[in-house]
Amino acid sequence: MQRTEDGQIVKLADYRPTDFVLLGVDMTLRLFEGHTDVMTVLAFERREGVAIDAPLGLDGDGLILDSIALDGEILSPARYDATPDALVVRELPANGPFELRLENRIAPEENTELMGLYRSNGIWCTQCEAEGFRRITYFPDRPDVLAPYRVRIEAEKAVAPVLLSNGNPIETGELPEGRHYAVWDDPFKKPSYLFAVVAGDLDALHDSFVTTSGRTVALGVYTEKGRAPQAAYAMDALKRSMAWDERRFGREYDLDVFNVVAIADFNMGAMENKGLNVFNHKYVLLDQDLATDGDYAGVETVIAHEYFHNWTGNRITCRDWFQLCLKEGLTVYRDQEFSADERERTVQRIASVRRLKAHQFPEDQGPLQHPVRPAEYREINNFYTATVYDKGAEVVRMIATLLGETDFRAGMDLYFERHDGDAATIEDFIACFEEAGGLDLSQFSLWYAQAGTPTLTVTESWDPEQRQHTVSLRQSLARGAAGTGTEPMVVPVRFGLVGGNGEDRHAESEVSGAARLKGDLIVLSGGDATITFTGLSDRPYLSVLRDFSAPVMLDHEQSEAERLALGRLDPNLFNRWRALDDLIAEGLTLAARRPLGDGQPALKDAIVDALLATAGDDEIDPAFRAQALTLPAETDIARQLRDNVDPDRVHQVADAARAAIGTRGLASFERLSAERATTEPFSPDAASVGRRALANAALAYRCAATGDPAAALAQYQAASNMTDRLGALAILAHRFSGDDASRSALDDFYRRFEHDDLVLDKWFALQATAPTHDAVETVERLANHPRFTMRNPNRVRTVVGSFAAVNQVAFHRPDGAGYRWVADKLAALDRINPQIAARIATTFRAWRSFEPGRRAKLKETLRQISEIKGLSKDLKDIVDRSRK
Ligand code: ARG
Ligand code: ZN
Repeated sequence: MQRTEDGQIVKLADYRPTDFVLLGVDMTLRLFEGHTDVMTVLAFERREGVAIDAPLGLDGDGLILDSIALDGEILSPARYDATPDALVVRELPANGPFELRLENRIAPEENTELMGLYRSNGIWCTQCEAEGFRRITYFPDRPDVLAPYRVRIEAEKAVAPVLLSNGNPIETGELPEGRHYAVWDDPFKKPSYLFAVVAGDLDALHDSFVTTSGRTVALGVYTEKGRAPQAAYAMDALKRSMAWDERRFGREYDLDVFNVVAIADFNMGAMENKGLNVFNHKYVLLDQDLATDGDYAGVETVIAHEYFHNWTGNRITCRDWFQLCLKEGLTVYRDQEFSADERERTVQRIASVRRLKAHQFPEDQGPLQHPVRPAEYREINNFYTATVYDKGAEVVRMIATLLGETDFRAGMDLYFERHDGDAATIEDFIACFEEAGGLDLSQFSLWYAQAGTPTLTVTESWDPEQRQHTVSLRQSLARGAAGTGTEPMVVPVRFGLVGGNGEDRHAESEVSGAARLKGDLIVLSGGDATITFTGLSDRPYLSVLRDFSAPVMLDHEQSEAERLALGRLDPNLFNRWRALDDLIAEGLTLAARRPLGDGQPALKDAIVDALLATAGDDEIDPAFRAQALTLPAETDIARQLRDNVDPDRVHQVADAARAAIGTRGLASFERLSAERATTEPFSPDAASVGRRALANAALAYRCAATGDPAAALAQYQAASNMTDRLGALAILAHRFSGDDASRSALDDFYRRFEHDDLVLDKWFALQATAPTHDAVETVERLANHPRFTMRNPNRVRTVVGSFAAVNQVAFHRPDGAGYRWVADKLAALDRINPQIAARIATTFRAWRSFEPGRRAKLKETLRQISEIKGLSKDLKDIVDRSRK
């Protein structure tokens, strides 16, 4: 069922509560081959003060009503209107509760959009966030309608021995004709987007967890047949998440059971349904021989994220979808803190900031810009964005920074205590921290309303006579596509004055302008401020925005020598990394602006030497050194170029830099890539991960320098784990694309792993992202490969999505062939799964920043997509906003 109408613009300002209060939900789903019969009993009560003739309106999406009864009596057709999208019932009882009983039939087998109830490899499963529940039954499908649910599932026992839903299991039994049933009861009031049902022939890994207060929770991770052993790490991550949330936030789990189900066809990462999380199986299943360190980290993060939603999302949900960041930003903040505690804090922070800059900054600086809390939308599914999630997490982090650990925890405690069971707003959340911290956050709240990345400009001047150092800060925010305000915000700037001995100096200080100084924090609240530090014996190095204490673009005029010194000395490890990363990014950006072949190196020797010093220093954590060796993403360089971008040029510059670094550090890279014993038994702990990351980075530089694939081929063949094997294969497939070594290794990889779809995705992705012009022909071949299918979102993402988002060289091929290919695929995909099509289409949004030839072709492609007949509301929304 495809909806092609434009859809209304939904506005935050139009929010009002429903006329009827939902008291309870009782559902029966009868699953058959080819169709499912749904019976829903809804108990309602008219809200006080609501007019006696007010009708009850329920949402639907592609439904056909088979029967409707009110308090046990079949309703006459004059009393209701049923369309696929809505059910309106009139002349309802004036006082007291009443019960509506609805029946309809749906076809999960035909559901290719993967929203609502659908089947994946024969398993029945659901995805209801944001508005999928209305594809199952007519319902007030909005997050502020909360009720307890009782769900009965019936199915043929041989096909679906496992029947799961939210809450606690209360009854099971046999039915005639080889069928059986299970009844689940969820006593916690919840909105419909948290509803879930799973049924199928599943295996499970079982375990248990005892909460602080001594309650035993039965844990289950369900998988397709034969794959339960692959859920062991997910189970381990779940138990660690449960313990961490008790320790760190005092949050205990509440039901008797907690189940996770791994599903092959899934639109997103995972879903936090109450007591029954449903996951993309990519974030559950791991096999030590088949998964990379990145895969392990992904499972750990997503398991933690969904589990943490039980409090931040489920116990306290959102009043409306504009408040999405209330649960998502906060839960990302929580999962990042978990990873920081479980692994290494600085390395985790570097990775998060890298992601923020790679995904959120471009979104915030382009046509799809929107505030962390948007004020309007046409299609809510298009707002599960880097801005809502990652910038949303940064805003929570700033609150934590401003309040300090104790007050932040007190604010969280107050939030949990005051709003448990509520559908809350950002204002509710903020009020808790104002109370706990005794401060006014009204100006701070602009972070939720004003879109765009502010620029923080920092200048310094040293007065040798007075022995004082003056630091000036200025913030500015350009108006962008969202058209929101540009008022100064509250910007917490963590800083230090670093001495030549690598220690922070203490100094007297005086502030003038709109800022406060609180220990190592400058809280800038107006357009500009100046701070004078006195009593210094000599000029310190200013280290600002430590740990990336605010999501801003830093424009800090500082000499190369000073930055190199900070890169060596800064006691704040994050800033030590950033000093070098900024120097490299600036070097590459400048080089990309210069004409090709001007003879100048992409990076100065002094910068390369500093990088090599870090990389070769065995005293430093290998994971940190690996991060240092990872160059800024080419898309990030392109963003910093702002206009007239030529992706070929950016790639050439980055590649030349890699070769230069590799050549200058060859001896060190040979040592680092060779000395790690590939025979070391595999362990996914952070220290081992760091050693593998460093060795693989070194191998890549080594091959960049020598132009010889031999070392990569040798590692590929000898590898005893997937991280090392894939690391080597990536070098072969990208740097030596088309060479015999590359081809034979890819063929070998296919033969070894073709039985496993998740590993096969890596094979598809590596080829789709090879930075060569002929990757357009490669993806066309891949799309015709027997194992390619538009029905599996992971497969589409690895071929079409990663080509469009990652492969800057081929997607932006000057003749426009990359654009045409993606547009073609989107046209086909939109008819199957509009949500995924819309997501992939966001890669066209940067069209304005390219050189004239590509700009014109991108613009034309967007126009052509907009004219596709029967375009979905999802894809149309992205294309329309991108073209503006
Ligand atoms: N709430 C889920 C999570 O962040 C993601 C749901 C995404 N839904 C969507 N319609 N895109 O854990
Ligand atoms: Zn989430």
